[in-house]
Amino acid sequence: MADQQGSPGLGRGFAFVGRRRELDLLLAAVRQPPAVVVIEGDAGMGKSRLVREATAILRSQGWRVMTGFCHPLREPLPYGPVVDALGKAGPWLPDAGLPPTAGALAPLLPDLADRLPPAPAASEQPGAARHHLVQAVRSVLASIGRVVLVVEDVHWVDDATRELLLLLGRDLPDQFALVVTYRAEDLPPGTAVLGAAYRPPPGASGTVIRLSPLTETDVADLAGAALGAQATPKLCAALHRRSEGLPLVAEEDLITLRDHARRDVRDLEQAEVPDGLREAVTERLTALSPAGAAVVDAAAVLAVPATEALLAEVAGLDRDAAADGLIDALRAAVLREIDNGRYAFRHVLAQQVAYRHVPGPRRTRLHQRAIEKLQTHHPVPLVQIAHHTLATGDQQGWLDRVEQAADQAVALGDTGTAATLLHQILDRPEVDGVRRSRTALALARIANSGVDYAATACALRAVLADPLLPAPTRGEIRLGLGLIMLNLGGDSAGFGELERAVDELATLPDKAARAMIALALNERNGAAAHAWDWLGRAEQAVRDSTNESVRAAVQVTRLLLMARAGDAAVWPLVDQLRRQGGSRAVLGQTCYGLYNIGETAIQLGHDRRARALLLANQDLAERLDHRPFECLNRVELLRIEWLAGRWAGLEDEYAALERAYPDVKQVGVDRALCQGHLALVQGRHSRALEHFTVAAEHSGNTSEAVVSRGIAAGLTAVRLAQNEPQAAWAIAEPALLTLSGPSDWTRTTGLFPVAVCATATHRPPWPNWHWLAA
Ligand SMILES: Nc1ncnc2c1ncn2[C@@H]1O[C@H](COP(=O)(O)OP(=O)(O)OP(=O)(O)O)[C@@H](O)[C@H]1O
Ligand SMILES: [Mg+2]
Repeated sequence: MADQQGSPGLGRGFAFVGRRRELDLLLAAVRQPPAVVVIEGDAGMGKSRLVREATAILRSQGWRVMTGFCHPLREPLPYGPVVDALGKAGPWLPDAGLPPTAGALAPLLPDLADRLPPAPAASEQPGAARHHLVQAVRSVLASIGRVVLVVEDVHWVDDATRELLLLLGRDLPDQFALVVTYRAEDLPPGTAVLGAAYRPPPGASGTVIRLSPLTETDVADLAGAALGAQATPKLCAALHRRSEGLPLVAEEDLITLRDHARRDVRDLEQAEVPDGLREAVTERLTALSPAGAAVVDAAAVLAVPATEALLAEVAGLDRDAAADGLIDALRAAVLREIDNGRYAFRHVLAQQVAYRHVPGPRRTRLHQRAIEKLQTHHPVPLVQIAHHTLATGDQQGWLDRVEQAADQAVALGDTGTAATLLHQILDRPEVDGVRRSRTALALARIANSGVDYAATACALRAVLADPLLPAPTRGEIRLGLGLIMLNLGGDSAGFGELERAVDELATLPDKAARAMIALALNERNGAAAHAWDWLGRAEQAVRDSTNESVRAAVQVTRLLLMARAGDAAVWPLVDQLRRQGGSRAVLGQTCYGLYNIGETAIQLGHDRRARALLLANQDLAERLDHRPFECLNRVELLRIEWLAGRWAGLEDEYAALERAYPDVKQVGVDRALCQGHLALVQGRHSRALEHFTVAAEHSGNTSEAVVSRGIAAGLTAVRLAQNEPQAAWAIAEPALLTLSGPSDWTRTTGLFPVAVCATATHRPPWPNWHWLAA
């Protein structure tokens, strides 16, 4: 039973009708936090109203509610919709006791900076910044107690904010509920609202509420509450027919009937079904005073909530006339006050109707005036100006503005918005080659920071298809494509792109070296046999380079290859790697090297050495504030414990790591591998199989051969234990094929012994596998 029905006021005087089940569902989910509720429905179907009704009830019961909006004309601000919502949390923050992690929000919320701990030192790692922010959001939410975060219109969310919501949704504070609304029809194709992989974590409730049209009874209730006895059954039927159950349309008709009584009820009863909304809104527009109409035209052109002053300027009215016009528009319920003195249409669909109502030449002049006026704002709202520029028919001007806005977004760290804007340019077939390649380069440069992989890869490929692209630009774009294919897409075809990029980057040796390094470290499908060739080429390429960072990267690659080959000469060289005093970029390379060499040392059986390297690296990663490596070092240190048989407490440690670093998938892989091996030694074979399968799922289609070989080793061992040598060999063989031969012995992660056992009963074709017997 819903708590409350038909609350007046929230829909500006109209009763809330129907939606009992939906309201109950929403309230029940939130009252059992942690919870994630997704509300889906067409434009005007009542998502926002449902949420407002529910949150009014929740507020009255002590819940805190924060709301953030996604918008197609949003100016850059990293994680804008969430950050905006949190900006209202000031009064609820505790006076003391916020954990230091919350400080990461301080630079984004200057108004709350004095209530938050100091911001951590800036990190160059995009992954680290993201991680800090998720932690900060989580700790602020956790400090508030019972709290609902509503994010409206997620079909317009940028990728970075979507990822933030996804990470938050995977590890929810105990007293927290996330509520998102979206229109399925406006979601970009192939996108899931919170990302394809989202599932509520154990212990959290997840609810999807799909809103369908109001019933005839609901519409009759709505009309009855508004018109009383005037709401005849015939009128109610007509309202339902015209609106097709869409509350927005029914409401627009009712406003006309109730407030103005300009329209004879009988007219409506006979009216045609289609265009209900257009007719209803147009009817009210034509009834406005000249000043009211001018203000409404300005609001329709501006498209986002605007102040009275801006409306007056764009409408070309003096202050008094604009005030009169605004009052008229508010009285006619065409506009409404949003918050602190900004005004907008009651609904975006109504704004669209009003916009089309403005005659073309006037529309253009209003857009031009909007550009002039917005240009004087600080900071300049580039996204809005771009929109108005396009509306005046100035394509080139629009492109310039969008590019500027994308640059601004990158500078602010809002890679989500930057990527969205860059895609808008690339989506235009008429864009010339120079701009196209410049845009693709910009996209390739931010590609690794976690923007939507599929869309970015697709856009970069489309640009590469242009035969006129200059080779170095082509090479750099391809380098970006290759790296995201490997790092984000787990697609080993990325190595092929890197090989091509090397040739195209002949005149940019530092960039070519980046591709060569990645190729030298490739272990897929026998590629390790060429590792030293690639390293030699990279060393040659950077011989005269002044770029410290790329030189350090090449040096670290050499050490890593030596370690992989089991060359004992590597250890003194590793000790000489720079750990203090260098630039962040150089120290970052050391951090990468120590982690990978530490991991290789474990594979070689040098546990003590590995431990020392990883502990030293832990210290370095913390100094550099490199969160992913902080986590990865700890994963390797746990692996040493596990391999040494010190199993007590391991499970708790993995669980804590998973909670602290939900975005590092290696934690899940290692945890499942460890659980699998422990189950195996206890003789719980099917359990072990489950765990190894989870490890495979967690690793996805990783491009790292050594990870997939470790998982294959576990699965093979289970099949052997189950006395199924044939099945064991079927798993082991493809994994063995990723090795280049016995020289790869350090890199088998337990695969050799189980593979040899599998061959003992099931005889593979020996000519292919004679080296296995060696
Ligand atoms: N159950 C309801 N009872 C009465 N009025 C409703 C109901 N649902 C929606 N409305 C009214 O219909 C109008 C449109 O609803 P709302 O803004 O919630 O739609 P929406 O689904 O959020 O649309 P959008 O996707 O465009 O944001 C609002 O003015 C709202 O008050
Ligand atoms: Mg809405």
